[in-house]
Amino acid sequence: MVPAVFRRVEHWPLTPNGKLDRKALLVKIDGGEQHSAVAKTHQNDQALEQTVLSMVAEILKRPSVTADDNLVALGASSLELIALASRIEVLSGKRPPLTELARAVRMPDLVALIAALMPETAKATSGPALWPGEDVLRDYLASHPTITDPVARRLFKTRPRPIGSADTIALEARPEIDRPPVADRRSWRDFCDSALSPLALSELLSPLRRHYAEGQARRLYASAGGLYPVETYLVLQPGAVEGMDAGGYRYDADGHKLVPCASHEALSDIAGLSSGNRDMLAASKVLICFALSLDAIAPLYDTASLPFGMIECGAICQLLEQASARLSVGLCQIGDMPLAELGRRLNLPADRICLHVMAAGALDPAMLGPWLDTPKTYEQDMMEGEL
Ligand SMILES: Cc1cc2nc3c(=O)[nH]c(=O)nc-3n(C[C@H](O)[C@H](O)[C@H](O)COP(=O)(O)O)c2cc1C
Repeated sequence: MVPAVFRRVEHWPLTPNGKLDRKALLVKIDGGEQHSAVAKTHQNDQALEQTVLSMVAEILKRPSVTADDNLVALGASSLELIALASRIEVLSGKRPPLTELARAVRMPDLVALIAALMPETAKATSGPALWPGEDVLRDYLASHPTITDPVARRLFKTRPRPIGSADTIALEARPEIDRPPVADRRSWRDFCDSALSPLALSELLSPLRRHYAEGQARRLYASAGGLYPVETYLVLQPGAVEGMDAGGYRYDADGHKLVPCASHEALSDIAGLSSGNRDMLAASKVLICFALSLDAIAPLYDTASLPFGMIECGAICQLLEQASARLSVGLCQIGDMPLAELGRRLNLPADRICLHVMAAGALDPAMLGPWLDTPKTYEQDMMEGEL
């Protein structure tokens, strides 16, 4: 028999006549475990409370919010409650009904409501972590609160990140290659009002299309087991693509076709679901969504399905971004969309997990041209004093 768990004890508890005191040993082990579990829960509760207070402060545009505050007293409107529901969905993966949110106006009630939605609570009863390193991340977050101050966030982005060793080896480069490859890729956040042509849409999606080589079906990106479980969906607003109706569509990579899947009515206000990118999404007219089909991967890859799907999704985004600039189409990945709600509005089948989204729209040639002409180099030319 192999023990399932080993635990270290500082010394053996002994009975008065010098034998191992088994009862005392059990109390020592169980008591210690409970104590560290309680301490960990307490740390997690504090981190969650801090996250919720920062989230409310950000949505209500206040410098800070304390645990004694109350959404009504802070003047939260129904629009702000919707933004809060969306942020909670991004945080927990579940969207609270507005009626419940409206009842949890005191901060401690709001924190309790969100705690009940958090995957941690589900995880305690449902087995191992689904992400490699998920537990490490949770522990890290418990002791490193998220930076919410806008200035501190900006400083964080520009802080030097030393690589840790003085011994570096310069890699050789051929002098004629002085330009990063595919350097025209970038995120675009300003779009013009024109509709995309059906051909531009077709060419935008064509990197995702199945092709054949040596008699085998292939795609331009890698996929675990060649299963290609990540599906692409489009949300078109009115006037997004010449001659096409607004609504939700699924991209069929085998036939390079679009299959209608949801009505425009269900998707008309999705820009409002994002609190940070609302204006960009309102201007973009096209949303590209990626969903993982569990039916297509989980029977073979079990708990690795989700990380594998995310990796595939990243490769897809990169391909689309690289292809888009020469089509005068701009793309921007969006990190704060409530994905479960979007999945519902797209009528995704129950096994699909909505993974990620990108805003897309027509680019003004007056903006695109100068960007394409801008030289991209490995070395930065900087005037003295520019810092
Ligand atoms: C997962 C992910 C989420 C992102 N979310 C947003 C977002 O919500 N809003 C936004 O404006 N840009 C978003 N971006 C774009 C990044 O800000 C952008 O890639 C980064 O600033 C580098 O600039 P570049 O893409 O132009 O090279 C996201 C990018 C990734 C990969």
